[in-house]
Amino acid sequence: MSAPRGQFSSNVGFLMAAAGSAVGLGNIWGFPTKAAGNGGAAFVVVYLVLAFLLAYPALMAELTIGRHARSNMVQALRGVAIGPFSRLFANITGFGGIIVASLILSFYSIVAGWMFAYLVEPFAAISGATGAAEWLTGSSVSRNLLFTGMFSIMTMVIIASGVEKGIERWSTLLMPALIILLLLLIVYVLTQPGAMTGLEVYLMPDFSLLSPELLISAMGQAFFSLSLGVGTMLIYGSYLSKQESLPRLGALVTIIDVGIAFTAGLLILPAMYVAQEAGTQIFSEGGELIAGPGLILQVLPALFDTMGTAGLFVAIAFFALMTIASLTSSISMLEVPVAFSIENLGLRRRGATLLVGLVIFAISTLIIFNFDALFGLVISISTEYGQPLLGVALCVFAGWIWRRDQLLTELKKGHENIETTLFWRVWPWYVRIVCPLLILAAFAQSVLVG
Ligand code: PFF
Repeated sequence: MSAPRGQFSSNVGFLMAAAGSAVGLGNIWGFPTKAAGNGGAAFVVVYLVLAFLLAYPALMAELTIGRHARSNMVQALRGVAIGPFSRLFANITGFGGIIVASLILSFYSIVAGWMFAYLVEPFAAISGATGAAEWLTGSSVSRNLLFTGMFSIMTMVIIASGVEKGIERWSTLLMPALIILLLLLIVYVLTQPGAMTGLEVYLMPDFSLLSPELLISAMGQAFFSLSLGVGTMLIYGSYLSKQESLPRLGALVTIIDVGIAFTAGLLILPAMYVAQEAGTQIFSEGGELIAGPGLILQVLPALFDTMGTAGLFVAIAFFALMTIASLTSSISMLEVPVAFSIENLGLRRRGATLLVGLVIFAISTLIIFNFDALFGLVISISTEYGQPLLGVALCVFAGWIWRRDQLLTELKKGHENIETTLFWRVWPWYVRIVCPLLILAAFAQSVLVG
């Protein structure tokens, strides 16, 4: 007999863990820079609409299946599937989720490793170790291996401690720290010269920039940001008590995720224009705002450098924020294959964590050694194709394959008078028809447009 399954001790524990998974590099880095490059507030509006009309319903599909099945994605989908064809589909989707979660974690750990190295750099600078400081912010293979490795170990240590003592405890500790750091940084940056121009770019909509590509970009961002498709939310749902209301908790997770992405924009966009004021280039040669690695690893550090001693503290706070946000997300990704290894392969939690953690670190290593060829490719396969397609599959499971009465019974648990809610009237058919069609349409369009 294997050990009893873990469970979150309270709804707050679940909320911190699920919001911790959702809030990550995607919110603090991805969202603000996409908004900056796609018409500022116009993107923000489209994103908000998609997050609530598309991502939230898909999130509910995962949470409901997970809590009903009380198991990992493969097992859960097999459980709701009837007949050979559905079972095959369950296996493809379930293992697809495990593979895509592992691939996302393999590149995510590399980026998180950069954040961690930049967090350590100010300490090297203060102690006069200039050589070390340069190595930390360089792009050497040795730096990447060491810091990806250290970040992977932190992720593994938390996951090895289990659901309540690992995931819940650390998320509950780190999420408030993240919010405090974010707010402190915003207050500081908004008082610097140039900040208001950044705010304007972020908050003034330019609807002429709306385009089909923007829609796809916003949809991809919403799926990535809410950790959808790969079974993360499904497994967290499986650790949730039957006494809690799923629609309410799902809505809270969405609101926190969107809220923090929006708030991060109040930091990043103004910071870019403060950097410009201080003499750092924030537009690329093509006249576009610098986004991605160039922004976080060049523009912002250059800005911190101009701030003197205060800059050291701001840099530490900023990269601590990024490292914390990454960690509460990476643990949720690792839990997907680990839960499968425990429940389906009979491994113990520690052994499973070590084994899976090492395999994923091996993939990260492969990417580090073949960075130019693999880094972008893995991101594209896992987040642009994997997540949306798996998201459609999960909506099909909730809407078509799973027995309707069971789905509705699971939804009712923990939510009195749910029959009187708008959610009850809309969601069951919405997840069946509208969600898959919208995701597929956006997806097909993106493939056609290229
Ligand atoms: N939601 C995370 C972010 O916004 O950074 C990324 C993520 C976490 C994606 C977990 C997928 C996942 F399973």
